[in-house]
Amino acid sequence: MSRKPILAANWKLHKTHADALQFAQKLHYTLERDDCERADVVICGPFTTLRTLQTVIQSDRMPFHLGAQNVYWEDKGAYTGEISAPMLAALDVEYVIVGHSERREIFGETDEWVRRKVDAVLAGDMTPILCVGETEAEREAGDKDAKVSRQISAGTEGLTPEQVGGLVVAYEPIWAIGTGRTATPEDAQEMCGLIRGLLRERFGDAADATRIQYGGSVKPGNTEALMAGADVDGCLVGGASLDPEDFAAIVRNAV
Ligand code: 13P
Repeated sequence: MSRKPILAANWKLHKTHADALQFAQKLHYTLERDDCERADVVICGPFTTLRTLQTVIQSDRMPFHLGAQNVYWEDKGAYTGEISAPMLAALDVEYVIVGHSERREIFGETDEWVRRKVDAVLAGDMTPILCVGETEAEREAGDKDAKVSRQISAGTEGLTPEQVGGLVVAYEPIWAIGTGRTATPEDAQEMCGLIRGLLRERFGDAADATRIQYGGSVKPGNTEALMAGADVDGCLVGGASLDPEDFAAIVRNAV
């Protein structure tokens, strides 16, 4: 089955709304429309950049999709500091990163929270980018498959096959994030293949439609080799997505 590649920029805690505007304009200028037709190009900015990105994407008809990096599962209420799925949907956000390892490790997000967030994103008619991945110690102890398998089953519990087919999963080994130690294309394929196999066991052929990204020190120079894996359908890019020329090169090298 052919799956449309999906390249997503995860800016993390970087860029003001003014920086975001400049980035979108530069990326638009740098990328050919063709490249963006062959792949989904997603920008996941901090909450404070989303309204600006929405406006410029729509007014200049930029072929980019808008993404957020987090969400809370309640729609509204006394939850100071949180942002809900309906608030994101109202800004035409299409993708929401859920369960990034930084949120799990720094902010203590549990598998249970991640599952609730997946549900909230789906209820808002948006697409979760469900992040999973093992630490270096877990890999060395031979526990990588068990860890990823646990995160996948917790994150997709109770979903329908149709919902799973529409999901994006990002395999991000924690030891490769921000370290410059990219997984080998073979490692990336092995783990993305494992994830598709887990989804197939639970949800049948719907797993063939799920798009699975690799993330962790993706750069223009390693994108093509990583994307060669049969089960690698895209990349979730941190550091290299901050520069519009680097991110444009990643998109070009992926399609
Ligand atoms: P880096 O590309 O900076 O390693 O970050 C990867 C990541 O965490 C994307 O979500």
